[in-house]
Amino acid sequence: MEIIVTKDYEEMSDKAAEIVIAAIKASPELVLGLATGSTPEGLYERLVTAHKEDGLDFSHMTTFNLDEYVGLGPDHEQSYRFFMDTHLFDHINISKERTHVPDGLAADPVQYCKLYEEMIQDADGIDIQVLGIGRDGHLGFNEPGTSLSSRTQLVALAPETIEDNSRFFDSEDEVPHFALTMGVQSILEARKCLLLASGEGKAEALKGCVEGPITSMLTASALQVHPDAIVIVDEAAASRLERLDYYKWVQQAREQIAGTH
Ligand code: GLP
Repeated sequence: MEIIVTKDYEEMSDKAAEIVIAAIKASPELVLGLATGSTPEGLYERLVTAHKEDGLDFSHMTTFNLDEYVGLGPDHEQSYRFFMDTHLFDHINISKERTHVPDGLAADPVQYCKLYEEMIQDADGIDIQVLGIGRDGHLGFNEPGTSLSSRTQLVALAPETIEDNSRFFDSEDEVPHFALTMGVQSILEARKCLLLASGEGKAEALKGCVEGPITSMLTASALQVHPDAIVIVDEAAASRLERLDYYKWVQQAREQIAGTH
């Protein structure tokens, strides 16, 4: 894992945008995996700015989102499709057919999940998967106890996730209890993973992700076996990492090496 520690949320978003924008420029047909939540909002703002001000071209790209609530359609303001449209897709030059968010209204969710996996494979897999982390250490909606070899599936949300996500709904009763999510194994198959975390509230989960044992009780810990996982984290979210000084030292060394080329 490469750990990049940033001063704050803004710098975390800058760094993430730098990596994603460089990848799009190098490979305009990039297949980008996307996440929702408040964490990647800054990244999406920067991608929109790069399109509007510098003409960054998204027209050849394909995207796949991690997850969606069951029962919420694209017009529901809390659906992840609505989130992606309003935060990113409506402001860049990507045709909606090239953007994929699991269908929360699929009549046969189990069959649909298989289809979602096939769509990812037909696109030749995901080049970069953007990830946030839940307070309970989940990736996508892979809650504690989910098999680390899971694939896209229908899942029940953990009570703490329902509570956390209720801030976006009028009341906790309105938060769906089920979701479709890419599995841990589906996520690990992305060629590069980019996990973002910000704020004190994520510090414990991040410690488990980076330094804890690899366990289905904290599915983000599976990233430890990924050959190219980058974790961009602000000081607050990094505050409980035991080897923080070491990660900063490695980061400096990487920057020095990059500077000599
Ligand atoms: C949801 C999403 C996750 C996301 C998490 C954290 O549960 N399914 O993909 O990482 O929330 O959200 P936030 O970034 O708002 O803290």
